[in-house]
Amino acid sequence: MWQAVARGPEVEIVVDGRPVRVFEGETVAAALLAEGRRALRTTDLRGEPRGLYCGIGVCFDCVMTIDGQPGVRTCQTPVRDGMRVETQAGVGTWRVVS
Ligand code: FES
Repeated sequence: MWQAVARGPEVEIVVDGRPVRVFEGETVAAALLAEGRRALRTTDLRGEPRGLYCGIGVCFDCVMTIDGQPGVRTCQTPVRDGMRVETQAGVGTWRVVS
């Protein structure tokens, strides 16, 4: 039998410099999907868009740069208030986040 799950409190993350309201308990990928966003990164060689594919942490198609760390699987990463999320180009680059 299907059972509703209570949403966590609303928090804010920053996606490519833009504030986005999300709910604690959601993954980054789920929150961005709910925002209508499909492309999360671009491929290294051709710059083609990639997004959520397996949703279970296996394919790595959903990786983004989170708080300066590239290659983070957004389907496995819960949102956190103040988190900084960036579209990742290729393998991404490390950044120091203050
Ligand atoms: S969608 Fe496959 S690892 Fe995240």
